[in-house]
Amino acid sequence: MKKKLNILIASSEVVPFAKTGGLADVVGALPKELQKMEHDIKIVMPRYYNISKEKWNLKPIGGPLGTPMGTLGEVWCGVLEGKLPGTDISVYFIEQEQYFGRKGIYNEENGEGFLDNDNRFTFFSKACLQLCKMLNFKPDLVHVNDWQTAAIPVFLNTTYKNDPLLKDAATLLTIHNMQHQGNFYPGLMEVLDIGWEHFNFLELECNDEVNLLKGAIYNSTLINTVSKGYAREIQTPEYGWGLEDVIKERSNDLFGIVNGIDYDEWNPESDKFISANYSVKDLSGKAECKKDLQKLFGLPEKPDVPIVGIVSRLARQKGIDIIAEAIYGLLDYDIQIVILGTGEVWSHFYFGEAAGKFPDKIGCHIGYDNALAHKIEAGADFFLMPSRFEPCGLNQLYSLRYGTIPIVRATGGLEDTIENYNEATGEGTGFKFYDLNAKALYNSIGWALYTYYNKKDAMQKLIKQAMTKRFTWENSAKEYENLYYQAVKKRIGEERFKSFELPKKTIKKVSSKSIKEDILEPAY
Ligand code: ADP
Ligand code: GLC
Repeated sequence: MKKKLNILIASSEVVPFAKTGGLADVVGALPKELQKMEHDIKIVMPRYYNISKEKWNLKPIGGPLGTPMGTLGEVWCGVLEGKLPGTDISVYFIEQEQYFGRKGIYNEENGEGFLDNDNRFTFFSKACLQLCKMLNFKPDLVHVNDWQTAAIPVFLNTTYKNDPLLKDAATLLTIHNMQHQGNFYPGLMEVLDIGWEHFNFLELECNDEVNLLKGAIYNSTLINTVSKGYAREIQTPEYGWGLEDVIKERSNDLFGIVNGIDYDEWNPESDKFISANYSVKDLSGKAECKKDLQKLFGLPEKPDVPIVGIVSRLARQKGIDIIAEAIYGLLDYDIQIVILGTGEVWSHFYFGEAAGKFPDKIGCHIGYDNALAHKIEAGADFFLMPSRFEPCGLNQLYSLRYGTIPIVRATGGLEDTIENYNEATGEGTGFKFYDLNAKALYNSIGWALYTYYNKKDAMQKLIKQAMTKRFTWENSAKEYENLYYQAVKKRIGEERFKSFELPKKTIKKVSSKSIKEDILEPAY
């Protein structure tokens, strides 16, 4: 049995407050499981302009919080406290008008990153640690996510290395996406204010710029990615985005933990967004959902024409250029395609135009719409994810749950979570392809459609197999807990870690002859 941990989780996105992608889903869900294990969890995120104080009942705490920002001087902010809905986990919101009092999380409306993202997230990272001091919260571990909070492990090993409250805090860096590293002009060193000696090729310097993710890879106690496959991939030039050698140096401390999904939110048996509920035992509601989806997208209401659904950030990462290349060719098939997404502006026009030209076959909604995402998961027959790289991916997991068969490129989390259909045995949960090109995509969809039309029993079996797969947060949270303890042990050393080992409980058992002691087995 081990002592429970004080854990600070820092993230730039948390569901339901702010989300651009799966990072928010992860940080909104993992803490709930960790709390069931009785750890003391605190979450911290920026208070973006559109996070309503009234809606989430956010209350100011303490006075203004000062955060030293090197040559920029002291930057002051407010702190608001709210709760992660449905729990009593505190979420702290860092409120700073100049940095977060604007529309958008990372980007201008035209998709360009804000020019001061370096200062915004350096500030946020440091404010997270200042918050611990304000709350007098001594974290055993700080869990940081992606480049936006990557300065935290750097600060803990420099600015705060002698701070009585923070010096022992271990760190776990979770890399959700290696592409975005937070590289900025070298002058950021003056704002970080940790000394230019850290601007070297081992620590923060990369191609003459400051690279925050690199700094975190160097300084974090342990590191993980969101699937085992991606942990292997980022050690290669194809997926490492220039940091493959840096991450390889830390390969002994690098782990892969696949994301779970929230089975309460994504459950076809109780989903409030879909027109009929259904289950693996009774799939009849799925046909109703399909009809509804066809109606929504103005497609002919034909029950026998397969629908391929796409819900995605429209970014190259997701292989949208491959979809764009293949889409007109795909219309050779008797097929309907529905697309929901936002992202690269060219793709809005491109897919919008395709839907305009072929309204009987393609439906396209440019935007972010959670209810519609649920309807697509429920109403489509197949779900397409031809990702160039995919650290984990959540949509294929939702698709499994909704009996919507994923067609995926075998990379990262997609490779790990989807089992290719085996024609000989009928085993599998989806269709996979390997080459990143339109031809491979076209062939793979062809294979799926052939199965749909000609092997109806095999198709039903696939659907059942998919729907009974489980990727729960309960399992993944146990793996995180394990890593947290390992990290704490590494940070404070084996000797001091002994204080985390609670003595095994003893109970007295009365037998008719003698009294003997029984050792209770630890739960770990
Ligand atoms: P990533 O984080 O790389 O975008 P994930 O698959 O991990 O990919 O997570 C994407 C999340 O965002 C999923 O919850 C998905 O349903 C959601 N999502 C993406 N685009 C949209 C959209 N246009 N409308 C609604 N939800 C979306
Ligand atoms: C990133 C990845 C995605 C992953 C998500 C949550 O956005 O692109 O694959 O599922 O983070 O970890």
